[in-house]
Amino acid sequence: MNKAEEIKSLIKGLNPAQVLALIAETYKENIVFSTSFGWEDQVLSQMIFTQNLPIKVFTLETGRMFTETYYVWNRTLETYNKPIHAYFPDKVALENMLSLKGPSSFYESVENRKECCGIRKVEPLNRALHGAKIWITGIRAEQSANREDMDWVEWDEAHQLVKIHPIFYWTLDEVKAYVKLHNIPYNPLHDKGFPSIGCQPCTRAVAEGEDFRAGRWWWEDADKKECGLHG
Ligand code: ADX
Ligand code: SF4
Repeated sequence: MNKAEEIKSLIKGLNPAQVLALIAETYKENIVFSTSFGWEDQVLSQMIFTQNLPIKVFTLETGRMFTETYYVWNRTLETYNKPIHAYFPDKVALENMLSLKGPSSFYESVENRKECCGIRKVEPLNRALHGAKIWITGIRAEQSANREDMDWVEWDEAHQLVKIHPIFYWTLDEVKAYVKLHNIPYNPLHDKGFPSIGCQPCTRAVAEGEDFRAGRWWWEDADKKECGLHG
């Protein structure tokens, strides 16, 4: 049995809070959780922080987040009083890109967009994952066709670790109900037509009935819309 299958059989049938608790108890260290402060991530932060689990929570501070995202970051610190480790882009790489291409190069080509995501997200992610054996995310199947095809526990060849998406099968209504029930701070943009929230210049609201991720890099073809964090 490979590592992902081994973990999957261990946590089969448990609810997400129990999954996190059992993973933490069994593997004890080198477990990390990435948050971008969307409501999926807020659900998982609440489960990790209120159960006092030894899971390192981190965020990739791209430098281009929404004011509302910074607000919910602060509210999360106040609510749980636990550290959220921040990873910032490499200063020299960022300065070079900005000097050569200015602050909005990502609109000009997919190549430029991937360069920006590479500097602001992917390189910091690699530092954040250094030494990690298990990586928890807030990904849900419903978010895109691409994600529907993923598994809720998977081996990540690029980072050589197991990725677990504990609320993979939750619907948006279940996420909202949990947030409400536990009075969890969440991004006010979610109430304004933003189901998926990334960097401010690369995220817009979606219309009723549009895909969850239709507002991310909306000027690009749907098949190019991953930033390199998740393959
Ligand atoms: S993305 O790949 O398109 O940016 P998305 O916004 O759907 O990802 O979020 C999926 C998961 O990726 C989140 O639940 C979170 O675990 C992780 N993630 C996305 N953006 C960040 C970020 N800036 N910092 C930390 N984790 C992030
Ligand atoms: Fe740059 Fe946009 Fe990617 Fe953020 S989402 S890192 S601003 S290209």
